[in-house]
Amino acid sequence: MKFTSTLSTPSPEALEHSQKLVQSIREAIQQHQGFITFRDYMEKALYQQGLGYYVAGAHKIGQSGDFITAPEISSLFSQCLAHQCQQVLAETKGNLLELGAGTGKMAVDILLTLEHYDSLPEFYYILDLSPELKQRQHHTIAQSAPHLLSRVIWLEQLPQHFKGVILGNEVLDAMPVDVFTVQGENTYEHQVIWQDQQFCEQLNPAPPTLQGAVTALKLEKTATPYTSEINLNLEGWFQALTTCLDQGVVLLIDYGYTASEYYHPDRNRGTLICHYQHQVNESPLHHVGLQDITASVDFTAVALAADQAGFDVLGYTPQAAFLASNQLEHFFSQQLAEFPEQQYELAQQVRLLSLPSEMGERFKVIALGKKYCSHLSGFSLIDQKYRL
Ligand SMILES: C[S@@+](CC[C@H](N)C(=O)[O-])C[C@H]1O[C@@H](n2cnc3c(N)ncnc32)[C@H](O)[C@@H]1O
Repeated sequence: MKFTSTLSTPSPEALEHSQKLVQSIREAIQQHQGFITFRDYMEKALYQQGLGYYVAGAHKIGQSGDFITAPEISSLFSQCLAHQCQQVLAETKGNLLELGAGTGKMAVDILLTLEHYDSLPEFYYILDLSPELKQRQHHTIAQSAPHLLSRVIWLEQLPQHFKGVILGNEVLDAMPVDVFTVQGENTYEHQVIWQDQQFCEQLNPAPPTLQGAVTALKLEKTATPYTSEINLNLEGWFQALTTCLDQGVVLLIDYGYTASEYYHPDRNRGTLICHYQHQVNESPLHHVGLQDITASVDFTAVALAADQAGFDVLGYTPQAAFLASNQLEHFFSQQLAEFPEQQYELAQQVRLLSLPSEMGERFKVIALGKKYCSHLSGFSLIDQKYRL
């Protein structure tokens, strides 16, 4: 993906849409003594009802959108995930629940693979914050696996009781984060204000919660200001997941690092980036509501929050190792036998999913268990849990 400092101009309709969101965020700023935290800004830019990037009507994911994810790159990704799910479903006799299901492509490929292995769960639940994406998911499943549509149930909130596998691909990176800067002994919170007809950032001393969380990171002292992000929603999110999950496994796939890599002194500008029409930029205050804003995941924080909520960390591994342990080669050969003319495309897909320079190392898989202690197939080649 290309890195850019000059964003292309959106269409007049897109600009009109963005202006409505800008106006609504300006009102929130006015009501909060002239500023909101960056986290609140990100929450509104992505999820403000009817207007935010994820909840409004634009095509986001795929070639025609702003970014592409592993399930969109290749069915092989979801087939390997299905292989892992099959093991847990067999042991728990449970169902599947996908969080943030994007276009619905992963749901289709997982369901078709499980059907092929005669392991279909009774239900495939989907919970997404985006009404536009729900419609798209319904359409994808109705087109590609109409006979399985009756098993798919869209939820408005987490169920009270659930057994089986909870899946989330690139959900953690879409959660709003606080941005902070440490300078000498002081920690500052990044806030958003409206000035000279545009959103700008200002820095103010961090409130106690943020200050405490940053202190707990035990950052190395640096001579120059150190800026990064932190996700303070994790604890609450895992509490909610553990309340709903009676027995089973949560599998989360995302780009990110352990805390020592994430908060390395050299990474002094953080990881926050934006995606607009397959271009990467560092301007979250521009193209408001028209572009994705995302931060890499601190998997140590994920493991800690999950542990505190009562989960066992079952495994942590790079995506390449997880896919290889879940029969990537077998699924590749199977597809090749069925579609020999697609040899180049299939090989290219495997490269994108697995090469260290592509998604293979940058993306990680973490598995969290509740009342589940069997060894998961996805971590049989490499398990780096000890690094968290
Ligand atoms: C980057 S997209 C990934 C979509 C899809 N999983 C894929 O891989 O193509 C992030 C998705 O997560 C959803 N999301 C963010 N926070 C969520 C939450 N707390 N619960 C459920 N979905 C969430 C967003 O609405 C969006 O659909």
